Amino acid sequence: TEFVTVSELASMMDVQSTQVISACMSLGIFASINQRLDAETISIVASEFGFEVEFVSAEVQDAIPTVEDKEEDLKDRPPIITVMGHVDHGKTSLLDYIRNATVVDGEAGGITQHIGAYSVTREDGKKLTFLDTPGHEAFTAMRARGAQVTDVAIIIVAADDDVMPQTKEAISHAQAAGVPMVFAINKIDKPGANPDRIREQLSQMNILVEDWGGKYQAQEISAKKGLNIDELLEKVILEADLLELKANPNKNAVGTVVESSLDKGKGYITNMLVEAGTLRIGDVILAGRHSGRVRAMHNEHGKELKEAGPSTPVSILGINGAPSAGDKFHVMDDEREARSIATKREQLYREQGLRTQKHLTLEEIGRRL
Ligand code: GTP
Ligand code: MG
Repeated sequence: TEFVTVSELASMMDVQSTQVISACMSLGIFASINQRLDAETISIVASEFGFEVEFVSAEVQDAIPTVEDKEEDLKDRPPIITVMGHVDHGKTSLLDYIRNATVVDGEAGGITQHIGAYSVTREDGKKLTFLDTPGHEAFTAMRARGAQVTDVAIIIVAADDDVMPQTKEAISHAQAAGVPMVFAINKIDKPGANPDRIREQLSQMNILVEDWGGKYQAQEISAKKGLNIDELLEKVILEADLLELKANPNKNAVGTVVESSLDKGKGYITNMLVEAGTLRIGDVILAGRHSGRVRAMHNEHGKELKEAGPSTPVSILGINGAPSAGDKFHVMDDEREARSIATKREQLYREQGLRTQKHLTLEEIGRRL
């Protein structure tokens, strides 16, 4: 069984990928940055850096029954999109522009809450869900837990700057996760912008964009002026359509926690993304080391929801603690069982925390819902 890639292992230990590569090399293993490593190699390499690795199986950790979906139960679902890129290259500007440009009339008056993800509906009725967390966390924290949340990544690069270290990192995360990328060459309104320099630098990384005869879609945009954003989204939709994304809406909801916080008056607020099934008021939820019952549910416009289907971001009340970003949530039939699993996980977590600080817990990855 293979667990994580060289670059993921490096980021978990906070060392350079090249250091992991040379540690592998000293074992006679010639690994590339995106290569997955087996358990034995991971243990030996990690110990060189002073880490003790514990391997847990995502399945046997606690038994939450998952039923294989029947083909006929699967329905189309909106794609989940993450914008990633170097500092100041325009991630927030792009997300803000998309959100503001597509706010539906009825919701325009409402106060938009930041819930870490939002959903937009295009004129043709197509829905898109954007994950609005710093792209890196979405990939490292969430992926390290075996949750691959994003369907398509927009890699944004400022045309008045260069392909930067975090751009490269974003690309390698997306590649490692097998997530298709669309390149947004941003800030083309700026006098010093030179989009061809970005295409050139990408080509040096073996990323050849379409207008240079390659396979990667790219779009020149200005996030600030709102230039060519529709064209960018068309390209994202094209990638998403190829994936034929589907989920079964008619089962207990499962998904991922995006962020959580404690509000003095309301209690714990948990923002999450429903990935499959339908979440309803009153549902019993197990989320990471916490559990509870959905008391209230809102969308990003503060609108009350009674139910939420696949690819819907929601903000809920009712969980008895603050799960971490990237934790999976499951709706369970039995409240006592949910509580008991949560308690067990909390105990395990504490024991692990005490044993050693330099401790990596790896789950098998690549398993989708
Ligand atoms: P971090 O969250 O700090 O990593 O940055 P970011 O990637 O979210 O970038 P942000 O959207 O905050 O943009 C950084 C700066 O660039 C801001 O001052 C924006 O106004 C500016 N900016 C973003 N997009 C454009 C653009 O298309 N044209 C111009 N001229 N400026 C832009
Ligand atoms: Mg930002």
